[in-house]
Amino acid sequence: MTKKKTLKLGAMIHGVGGGWEDWRHPDSLPNASTNFDYYKQQAQKAEEGKFDFAFIADSVSINENSSPHYLNRFEPMTILSAIAGVTNKIGLVGTVTVSYSEPYTLARQFASLDHISHGRAGWNVVTSWLSGSADNYGGKAHPSHPERYKIAQEFLEVTKGLWDSWEDDALVHDKESGIFFDKGKLHTLNHKGEYFSVKGPLNIARSQQGQPVIFQAGTSEDGRNFAAKNADAIFTGYENMKEAKKYYADVKGRAIEFGRNPDTLSILPGIIPIIGDTQEEADRKHQEIADLVSIDKAIHALGRPFDDHDFSHYPLDESFPDLGDLGSNSHRGTSEKIKKMAKEQNLTLRQVAINFATPKGEFVGTPEKIADLIQRWFEEEASDGFIIGAATPNGLPEFVDRVVPILQERGLYRTEYEHDTLRGNLGLEVPENRYFKKELQQM
Ligand SMILES: Cc1cc2nc3c(=O)[nH]c(=O)nc-3n(C[C@H](O)[C@H](O)[C@H](O)COP(=O)(O)O)c2cc1C
Repeated sequence: MTKKKTLKLGAMIHGVGGGWEDWRHPDSLPNASTNFDYYKQQAQKAEEGKFDFAFIADSVSINENSSPHYLNRFEPMTILSAIAGVTNKIGLVGTVTVSYSEPYTLARQFASLDHISHGRAGWNVVTSWLSGSADNYGGKAHPSHPERYKIAQEFLEVTKGLWDSWEDDALVHDKESGIFFDKGKLHTLNHKGEYFSVKGPLNIARSQQGQPVIFQAGTSEDGRNFAAKNADAIFTGYENMKEAKKYYADVKGRAIEFGRNPDTLSILPGIIPIIGDTQEEADRKHQEIADLVSIDKAIHALGRPFDDHDFSHYPLDESFPDLGDLGSNSHRGTSEKIKKMAKEQNLTLRQVAINFATPKGEFVGTPEKIADLIQRWFEEEASDGFIIGAATPNGLPEFVDRVVPILQERGLYRTEYEHDTLRGNLGLEVPENRYFKKELQQM
């Protein structure tokens, strides 16, 4: 019997919002990105809506061109640990870059979060697309795009190896005999590779979900292959169903080629639903947010995925400029998508900048319309669920109060958590400890 597929939902808690001027909205809290009470309320609201996880994005470089949320925000592991203490069931997923971290440190941090939260940790593996990151970590050159994904592969393998250092029954804790642990069940990784040399063992054991859940967000060729091979869940940027379906089929196909069951990889597009009692009200709410962004700001925002390229020198109302391979060593997936769309639709720079800075996805409308769309995307294999973002503090609460009950009534979404761990709620198996497996095979 095949198990019924269940819709998955994550909440992107993004302080003052992902846009450039969201913070100026009358409902916004300009200090939200470093306001613990705000994060606590949003995470608890997401948990009330039985969300699979809350997600904290990150990067490690800013400059005067960065958007407001980037400029002044919490470090993910710290805020997730604090949220762990004020929630019980919701998964806690954070971004950490492989290009500017060490596997031993990262493995410890996520294992610690996993214990603190009783098995609710997830790691969004990113490679860092901002070249300025290098200046904060020793000043060596920012690795090239393909090299970053090579580093990511080795980093992940080392991290997973470290997470298996302790077999589940290694810590005997026998007070009578004085045996704290079984020496035969503690394993040393002894990794020596192209980028990392890590001996191990890790100084923390596995949690009840075995290992933290692996998330990834990349749209480039290398990004898709990395996700298809390694990730339990992948975030994507598509707000258009046709493109999302193509992406879904492509990445699931790649997962099959890597020998995986495609159902163990969830594809979760990021959407920003804007809800109104009527379509007109929702459109007006979207326009209110879009109107905050001037054309100068939109041009400025567009530079971001092209590693802060300055677009202000190009004519605004002529065809989008030919940029060659600009952006390919930065946010490759997004920059390629922008160039392709501009060419295919013969757009001007002004049109591209406005589309980019104030996108209007399909998910603007009444709660029923948004629920219908979610159901369609899910049932027609454009997604396995969604990561829900918001431009204003009311965005997530409105979604939980008005859209989630419709999804629940339709039997598409849980009314109670099935498990205590993130892995359990996502329907994923606890990975067997690699050393445990080896011993069984040898028997
Ligand atoms: C929902 C969502 C969340 C993301 N979170 C992050 C993040 O926290 N940090 C980051 O550097 N990139 C984040 N990204 C961007 C992707 O990681 C980006 O595509 C990647 O950095 C570039 O990979 P690519 O060149 O393979 O497309 C996110 C994307 C989406 C859709």
